[in-house]
Amino acid sequence: MANMNSEHDGEPQGTAYGRFHRRVLERRAAIMAIATTLAISVGGLVEIIPMSPASMGPEQPAMVSPYSPLEVAGRDMYLREGCYTCHSQMVRPMRAEILRYGEWSRAFEYTYDRPFQLGSRRLGPDLHRVGGKYPDAWHYEHMRDPRSTSPGSIMPAYPWMIDHKIDPADIRASVVALSKVGHAYDDTSLEGVTASLEAQGAGIVANLATAGVSAEWDDEIVAMIAYMQRLGVDGRAVFEAEGTGR
Ligand code: HEC
Repeated sequence: MANMNSEHDGEPQGTAYGRFHRRVLERRAAIMAIATTLAISVGGLVEIIPMSPASMGPEQPAMVSPYSPLEVAGRDMYLREGCYTCHSQMVRPMRAEILRYGEWSRAFEYTYDRPFQLGSRRLGPDLHRVGGKYPDAWHYEHMRDPRSTSPGSIMPAYPWMIDHKIDPADIRASVVALSKVGHAYDDTSLEGVTASLEAQGAGIVANLATAGVSAEWDDEIVAMIAYMQRLGVDGRAVFEAEGTGR
């Protein structure tokens, strides 16, 4: 009984720290509140303070550049058609993925992806390294009728991309919006955007012609091909320069 009384009769027992803790901190609400706030901010401060010097942040190799206007048009269509509901754009650092898709995806590769298209489901294969995997005419056929290139495919056909035209004024609006958030475009005037669309589109039209497919630079399908062929290309160039490519 004597022991029990001594535990409950006021003066706390224990080490000097324990007594300080009970007398100074726990009995004074204001000090306790300040101490608690300091303690729980540590986690946040440790994350935030190192990011404040402007030089720090994700590495940005010089070889990564913004999407061209035609690729922006294709990317807008990728969002419009909901391709991300079946395709991811993120190769994970796992052996099976690297063997199937190539080098795993790095943070710097998403510098100009706003919003990024990591995706959350793979009903179809990952597309982050699809650029350069197939000829332009393959994509044309695949979009027109996926079963014609990939027997048994469950991917929907997108035949309207062959008939519909892109609108340079729309694409210019996307390019201007991206340049406002810091993507470096040389010329965001309507003439500049249209000239760039025409020049890149003409290259794809010429490629398609060699496979006997006729198209025009402003067909939606041409923009989609441009976007597909760009995916993963900048990253691959960086890995090749570093000697890590495969
Ligand atoms: C219902 C799910 C689904 C949707 C939506 C879908 N795909 Fe696919 N996609 C697939 C499947 C499954 C495959 C694998 C079979 C094949 O090649 O068709 C595939 C394959 C592909 C391939 C070839 C990838 C490779 O490495 O062989 C490309 C490129 C592609 N899709 C692009 C697109 C684009 C662009 C869109 C949007 C316009 C889209 N997909 C929408 C399911 C989908």
